Amino acid sequence: MPIQVEHLTHTYLPGSPFSATAIHDLNLTIEDGEFIGVLGHTGSGKTTFVQHLNGLLKPTEGRVVVDGLDITQKGVSLLEVRKKVGLVFQYPEYQLFEETVAKDVAFGPKNMGLDKAEIDRRVRWALMQVGLDYATIADCSPFELSGGQMRRVAIAGVLAMQPRTLILDEPTAGLDPRGRRAILGMIRRLHAETGMTVIMVSHNMDDIATLATRLIVMSKGELAMTGAPRQVFTQRDILRSIGLGVPQGAELCHRLREAGYPLPEGLFTLEEVRDALLALAGRDATNSAAPGTQAQPQSGELTEANAAQGAKAAGGIPQTHEEPKQSVQQAQTQAPLAQDAPQDAAPAGKEGDA
Ligand SMILES: Nc1ncnc2c1ncn2[C@@H]1O[C@H](COP(=O)(O)OP(=O)(O)OP(=O)(O)O)[C@@H](O)[C@H]1O
Ligand SMILES: [Mg+2]
Repeated sequence: MPIQVEHLTHTYLPGSPFSATAIHDLNLTIEDGEFIGVLGHTGSGKTTFVQHLNGLLKPTEGRVVVDGLDITQKGVSLLEVRKKVGLVFQYPEYQLFEETVAKDVAFGPKNMGLDKAEIDRRVRWALMQVGLDYATIADCSPFELSGGQMRRVAIAGVLAMQPRTLILDEPTAGLDPRGRRAILGMIRRLHAETGMTVIMVSHNMDDIATLATRLIVMSKGELAMTGAPRQVFTQRDILRSIGLGVPQGAELCHRLREAGYPLPEGLFTLEEVRDALLALAGRDATNSAAPGTQAQPQSGELTEANAAQGAKAAGGIPQTHEEPKQSVQQAQTQAPLAQDAPQDAAPAGKEGDA
């Protein structure tokens, strides 16, 4: 059953000189099995919003209904809510406290009053879901692990409650590219294999573009936009006006279109732009992979090389994508993408671990 958010308003420190309304009259429904990406500039209310979905914060006004249960009502058991909706905080590894990994992951299921065999089964299952080997890691202290491993243990602790909905607040913040890819791959697999609803807050447009089935864009505590990534990312000017960028593929597509290349609207991955450029050049992506198969360009014809020149003429594309594809890689220059605040403003040196 869906999560319904009705007229949700949250004011911190109401009645004090520091009173701040972080969420204002938010209305939306999240259906079962969706992968929601929550976007918004720093301070737009993303964390405040998601913390209402598992009862961690209580609304000043409005309500949140999960599986038909109004979780904002007095007397609702938060344990019951957390069996339905699991929340992984930003930097969840700071919450680890038990002496072994197995005990830490078992904490939630134990509180649920499950028997020993079921707790053990869930701990093994959750560690497997996050790509950690039970036999190797169960008896280790969480504090001996790398940053990326600690984060996975913390996520496993939430998964062990087997919630229908998993919320992750900036799950890759502070991780290096390898650790980031590993966590994102894990979340993608979890969503695909379990069908659970995933709600992920992220500053990274490129991450969210390829994972989410729907985006919720917040601005100043309000819902600025919602829709499929392809719909949202065509609204480049609106996104810019609220301090957000678009994925690199969308930016490249926009600049190439401005420079006169007749690419379709709505492309947002570099791969899509590459394929569209190759299609324009009358070649398919498969052929392009084989060296020595390139047709000689006719005068004025669009090819990878002159598409690259076109991209340069259009102001270039950013250089921050980790795995640029061959045809667009050539077009890269130093021009930065108008991205949101850096996501990795966290402690440096957290290791990823595949
Ligand atoms: N505990 C708090 N007390 C008072 N104000 C708060 C508190 N937490 C958040 N705020 C304020 O509420 C607003 C929304 O904050 P929130 O943390 O939800 O935004 P966010 O979109 O998650 O930001 P970020 O991208 O930086 O994580 C901000 O203006 C923030 O300063
Ligand atoms: Mg936040």
